Amino acid sequence: MSGTIKLEVCESSADVALKASEIIASLIRATPDAAIGLATGSTPEQTYARLADLHRGEGLRFARVTSFNLDEYWGLDGDHNQSYRYFMDDRLFRKIDIRPWNTHVLNGTAANPDLECRAFETKILAAGGIDLWLLGIGTNGHIAFNEPGSPVDSRTRLVNLAPSTIAANSDGRFFKDAASVPRFALSAGIGTIREARRLLLLATGSGKADAIAQALEGPPSTDCPASLLQSHPDCTFIVDREAASRLESA
Ligand code: GLP
Repeated sequence: MSGTIKLEVCESSADVALKASEIIASLIRATPDAAIGLATGSTPEQTYARLADLHRGEGLRFARVTSFNLDEYWGLDGDHNQSYRYFMDDRLFRKIDIRPWNTHVLNGTAANPDLECRAFETKILAAGGIDLWLLGIGTNGHIAFNEPGSPVDSRTRLVNLAPSTIAANSDGRFFKDAASVPRFALSAGIGTIREARRLLLLATGSGKADAIAQALEGPPSTDCPASLLQSHPDCTFIVDREAASRLESA
């Protein structure tokens, strides 16, 4: 089955977060034991803040939800303040009632990365597959840490980070300089991500405009990993005006 990516353009990044959090909240209200895929980075932070508000203010319950994160830096343990485990605990998990044992973030210091990646895939299968996977996008079009050139059927594995990704993540928001950014990561594959029943990709800011245009209007190609989502049957991009600014159709 193939689909076309649905596009929603919002006025601001706050509106992107509002829409995304409402979609996730509706899923959890309808399916309290949903399996949800999550992303890290600056983009989903407002969405997580809004989900935490919905938990506090409106009693949105996560007690039966299972979560799976896209990726983790290789070499960082969960206590490192730049690890994605730390990010998720800090921005979301500690603020809601999700059970810690139901949150799956790849272990960046696992003794055997291949076994760790295989176990992650097995846990996704055991959860019945992922109902919705929230995604961001790199300036080079990457999804998770699937850099350009990653195969469409790639699975969870140890990957190299592209120089542009290292630069983007050492601009002061996360790591202080390029030398501190790990060179490798564990990442769900494009094939793993494409098996989720529903995909929701968020992008904000002009820095993402080229990647969004390529992903939506370019030919599906491993040069822009996000363009490989074009054939997914239920994929929505929610972007702000700046991220939509290079689209011919918007
Ligand atoms: C990182 C993550 C991705 C994320 C991307 C964009 O490299 N591995 O999962 O989507 O960067 O991050 P940001 O939202 O900070 O721009």
